[in-house]
Amino acid sequence: MTVGIPRETWPGEARVALNPAAVAALHKAGLGVVVEENAGTAAGFTDAAFRDAGAQIGSRASVFSAADIVLQVRAAPAELSMLRSGQTVIGFADPLGSPEAVDAIARTGATAFSMELMPRITRAQSMDALSSMATIAGYKGVLLAANHLPRMFPMLMTAAGTVTAARVFIVGAGVAGLQAIATARRLGAKVEAYDVRPAVKEQVQSLGARFVEMALETGDAEDKGGYAKAQDESFYRRQREMMLRVIAGNDVVITTALIPGKKAPTLVTEEMVEGMTPGSVIVDLAAERGGNCALTRPDEVVVHKGVTIVGPSNPPALVPNHASQMYAKNITTFLNHLLGKDGAAKTALELDLSDEITRETLLTRGGTVVHARIKDLLTNVGVENR
Ligand code: NAI
Repeated sequence: MTVGIPRETWPGEARVALNPAAVAALHKAGLGVVVEENAGTAAGFTDAAFRDAGAQIGSRASVFSAADIVLQVRAAPAELSMLRSGQTVIGFADPLGSPEAVDAIARTGATAFSMELMPRITRAQSMDALSSMATIAGYKGVLLAANHLPRMFPMLMTAAGTVTAARVFIVGAGVAGLQAIATARRLGAKVEAYDVRPAVKEQVQSLGARFVEMALETGDAEDKGGYAKAQDESFYRRQREMMLRVIAGNDVVITTALIPGKKAPTLVTEEMVEGMTPGSVIVDLAAERGGNCALTRPDEVVVHKGVTIVGPSNPPALVPNHASQMYAKNITTFLNHLLGKDGAAKTALELDLSDEITRETLLTRGGTVVHARIKDLLTNVGVENR
């Protein structure tokens, strides 16, 4: 079988689905690999490096025509006309946000898998690309804040006097938030954090940050996959009231609060921004999902009454080399899982739908959307279930 790696075409996307090391591993296992010319340039991987790893370099059309399995960062509808029946495509497909795009893939006859729907079970940890990309987002979010802040992060006692440590507040202590805490701590900041899931309090404290207690009822904050559940508007209103004071006392606020498949909750209002000291910085890592801050404009730097608000829509693409390396590890582990034992010698993918990882990530097959949750979403938006 042949694996195809197209160049990513999403605006600003600098990642590539495989790095040369991952290509070499697949090549060694007996798979053919075709990489589109310049697919890795933005991530620092040359065509020569891919060629040395055993890949053939070709045009976009040749990658899609040769590939039995297309590996992408974003399985975007841009390639629809090039997909065909019998072909498999694996990538971030945003099935919860854009179910219609999944239906469009189904109509090509191709089999599609979504990296977002990877179940959060121990066996799938090395395939969990949402987690690896969130780790990068948390790290980069802190660096963006440090760059925009007119102060330093660490406390310094120098001959020129003492500089106090930056105070950083992280909202949402999931994968991105925990990495943001760790990164801000490494830079010497004083860090506090809050999450609706009370279970993360210990994790926050173990990283040396203070967990901000809010008297909010969050008994059913977590779903069975470990994700936060959406709360009602009165909850978010009370949360905003409680956060007002905390936010005013910090130099940096990094927000990471997401609800899978939903618009991000607005947690930082204009009033809260105005309560911050001029020069303070907000980094909104939920910008792609509408943002946690009311003033966020994706990929723009907004300055409101002296407070800087940064909302990168695709933070992992700002660290494209390591993001590609980690994504490549996730997607090749998943590919090997789908191929099974001696898989590289097979001529077609044989899917074992009794396996949770395969079943939960499979979006389309045989011309239809097969994932129950996505089918429901399509019904809700009035797309006929064929
Ligand atoms: P995410 O990216 O969907 O959300 C980020 C964070 O925002 C979450 O911690 C969520 O609770 C929080 N949040 C949502 N609404 C909020 C609000 N109104 N105020 C404050 N915080 C809010 O979540 P992520 O980071 O992808 O994962 C969440 C959890 O899933 C992890 O902390 C972990 O417990 C679990 N997980 C399990 C894995 C496994 O078992 N293999 C792998 C990765 C994560």
